[in-house]
Amino acid sequence: MTTTASAFDATQIDAAATRLANAHPSDIIAEALTQFENLTISFSGAEDVVLVDFAAREAQKLNRTFSVFSLDTGRLHPETLEFIERVRDHYGIAIETYSPLADAVEQLVRDKGLFSFRKDGHSECCGIRKVEPLGRALSEVDAYVTGQRRDQSPGTRAEIPVVQLDPGFGRTDNPLVKFNPLANWTSAQVWQHIMSYGVPYNPLHDRGFKSIGCAPCTRATHPGEHERAGRWWWEEATQKECGLHAINLEK
Ligand code: ADX
Ligand code: SF4
Repeated sequence: MTTTASAFDATQIDAAATRLANAHPSDIIAEALTQFENLTISFSGAEDVVLVDFAAREAQKLNRTFSVFSLDTGRLHPETLEFIERVRDHYGIAIETYSPLADAVEQLVRDKGLFSFRKDGHSECCGIRKVEPLGRALSEVDAYVTGQRRDQSPGTRAEIPVVQLDPGFGRTDNPLVKFNPLANWTSAQVWQHIMSYGVPYNPLHDRGFKSIGCAPCTRATHPGEHERAGRWWWEEATQKECGLHAINLEK
């Protein structure tokens, strides 16, 4: 697939989303790799590992490069940290981690304790542990890739496009392009790819964790329960965005 250099300009982004709406995730990643020299993948240490797998395969074919980062909130499961390391080894890639600012975490804990999110909602803690570090991770890139899917959260992700501008992050002089190559894939398709291609996966998934975030804010789900039920379960479904994807709440 070839495109002009302006295919992901602000004025062309909706057309690009329409054009790629039914493309295979690996084709979307291939196009992102072709268009952006500093593409980065936002990897949470969960089933979004398929993004790394697709990117590794496509980058080799196209002779392109990409980077990967994880937001190490300080509250991830040890299994997730081990898994991030395993992915680094398996693919022979660097995975950068971004940590929250120590002063901000210390202040929050001093004022409100270690589990403030159970009392007054997750947005303050997520703001410090996820959103601010994400801003730093994205400060030098033109485009990034996420593992968001429409089926992950009917309340907030039902309409996400495969590519969009992300005005919440990036540089003011250069709109950041956000690729969501799995937007139209189901959880079942993701798992079929993981199993068919021997992609390493987080062992928590074998213990009933369908969606994985920070340890105190993630629980295993029962059969039949939606995966999002295992995240911030004490809050309303419409609130279940931590600010990384705040753009989903604006529409
Ligand atoms: S969240 O906003 O509710 O935490 P979710 O866990 O569904 O997000 O993951 C959706 C996508 O957001 C992931 O595929 C990844 O691209 C990005 N993401 C979420 N958490 C992280 C993290 N800790 N580090 C890097 N990217 C993340
Ligand atoms: Fe804090 Fe929970 Fe958000 Fe992690 S998911 S940053 S522990 S509120």
